[in-house]
Amino acid sequence: MLTKINHIGIAVKSLDDAIPFYRDNLGMEFKGIDEVAEQKVRVAMLQVGESKIELLEPTSDDSPVARFIEKNGAGIHHLAYEVVDIVAAIAKLTADGVRMIDVQPRSGAHGTRIAFVHPKGSNGVLTELCQIGQ
Ligand code: CO
Repeated sequence: MLTKINHIGIAVKSLDDAIPFYRDNLGMEFKGIDEVAEQKVRVAMLQVGESKIELLEPTSDDSPVARFIEKNGAGIHHLAYEVVDIVAAIAKLTADGVRMIDVQPRSGAHGTRIAFVHPKGSNGVLTELCQIGQ
């Protein structure tokens, strides 16, 4: 069902402050910034090998990422696994009794379709399924 780790999501207070560390100090390839209005975040993608780092900056105080930072501080927010067929992946997990946040795929950054597994169903790790393309 899963093909690889697509990205690791990291909550940051400011993309402008965070990007130079990943791009300039660690030397990752900067792939651009996208805004996901529905989630009230700006998202920067940086490529490292076949995986990416997704930096998440809240655009509003009531953004889920803003609430995460308030509670936990900046840091690792979620782990995203790539799937070929996200609808089939959601159906399998739901049939297995795994609790999902998203029972329908929604639009992610950079032209992806995503769905989150509930952290209670995934050992406290917010887990994203991610399909490339619409
Ligand atoms: Co993500």
